[in-house]
Amino acid sequence: MNILILGSGGREHAITWKLAQSKKPLKLFAAPGNPGTAAMAVNIDIDPMDFNAVRKAVIDNQIRMVVVGPEAPLAAGITDFLEDDPSLGDLAVIGPRREGARLEGSKDFAKGFMKRHGIPTAAYDTFTPDTIDDAISFMRSLKPPYVLKADGLAAGKGVLIINDFDEAVSELRAMLGGRFGEAGSKVVIEEYLRGIELSAFVITDGRSYRILPEAKDYKRIGEGDTGKNTGGMGAVSPVPFASKSFMAKVEERIIKPTVEGLMKEGIDYRGFIFFGLMNVDGDPFVIEYNARLGDPETEVILPRIDSDFFDLLEGVAYRNLESRSIVISPETAVTVMIVSGGYPDSYGKGFHVSGTDNVTESTLFHAGTKTDNRHLVTSGGRVIAVTSTGSSMESALEKSYSSVGRISFSGMNYRRDIGFDLKDGLK
Ligand code: AMP
Ligand code: GLY
Repeated sequence: MNILILGSGGREHAITWKLAQSKKPLKLFAAPGNPGTAAMAVNIDIDPMDFNAVRKAVIDNQIRMVVVGPEAPLAAGITDFLEDDPSLGDLAVIGPRREGARLEGSKDFAKGFMKRHGIPTAAYDTFTPDTIDDAISFMRSLKPPYVLKADGLAAGKGVLIINDFDEAVSELRAMLGGRFGEAGSKVVIEEYLRGIELSAFVITDGRSYRILPEAKDYKRIGEGDTGKNTGGMGAVSPVPFASKSFMAKVEERIIKPTVEGLMKEGIDYRGFIFFGLMNVDGDPFVIEYNARLGDPETEVILPRIDSDFFDLLEGVAYRNLESRSIVISPETAVTVMIVSGGYPDSYGKGFHVSGTDNVTESTLFHAGTKTDNRHLVTSGGRVIAVTSTGSSMESALEKSYSSVGRISFSGMNYRRDIGFDLKDGLK
């Protein structure tokens, strides 16, 4: 089967890498892909947001399955576009249609969905420029810090957590005044949840689901979880505090009602659901949904799947996921993201990356690289995710940090403390 993976980051490289291990004869394509996917797939240089170009790539390469990596094409309706085109036949698309992608694309929709289905989440209300006075009174009824969320996709920058009431009011006015454009025309204000975060993931064919390994990512640029938010500086799976009993609560209270809720609302959801969770004194709450896999979480989730990943995707395509099984490795996988100096603010590009050939103990997932005159150079903020597995988190981290030490480029940065909060007593 010919499969097209859409996207160009570490997540898409990891998906391509996992599918390349399938026992089934697969021919893989990545669009646009990166130098990492080029080693195991044919890269097609098109933008996943250019739906007509994607359609043409599907036809030209006799693609029978498209796996959508990032959220933007899902929210813009790539699945609807491809599925509803009769000339593409029974092309399978892994990734929800626009309606389902609203779980991620609209915070107001996601919160309303959770309320309708009794899924635990922070108390909230939604406001528009016309109801700003009500928003301020609602904030008065909450204890600080105040959590303000732009309704729409805002490239990870749409969530503000503010301690001071007056500052929160002025930020609220700026958001409703258009700071995030259309994405901020509605603002969700919610109760602050105190706890420790982790993420759960499922793949679903709209009726049944399979739970993938859970993960914890490290979003802040600085060690000790300080400084600005990034796309993710590293990740660990499994998460030591995600005990069997905690994960059973996640399944009963969150995963089942979410998949059943989608069915009850007539939303045909085929793809991944990413549950951003807060463990509040042993009880799980949903912080957010995403309609895709996480990045860099994918780089630690997929290495722990021992069964054939393609089998699960096929179960989604044929809507018979209930007959497919997943085998998860007990090993720990970690990833350390190497980033460009200056990231997540402005950073330079085009620096030569050396030493990747000397890495033997880890798998390198390319996130922001390109090939320039046969040299590997940086082309993004997040450059390479360095993934290792081991019988313990410590042994996996040792391998990743040793591999990171072999790689260099001008301005290279990374966090030296991935997993710091999961060690020793905090388990
Ligand atoms: P989101 O984009 O919704 O995942 O929010 C970004 C980050 O803000 C989350 O990963 C949490 O760390 C934090 N956050 C969001 N909502 C809450 C909340 N209600 N209580 C505490 N922290 C939150
Ligand atoms: N690492 C967080 C995300 O993919 O949204």
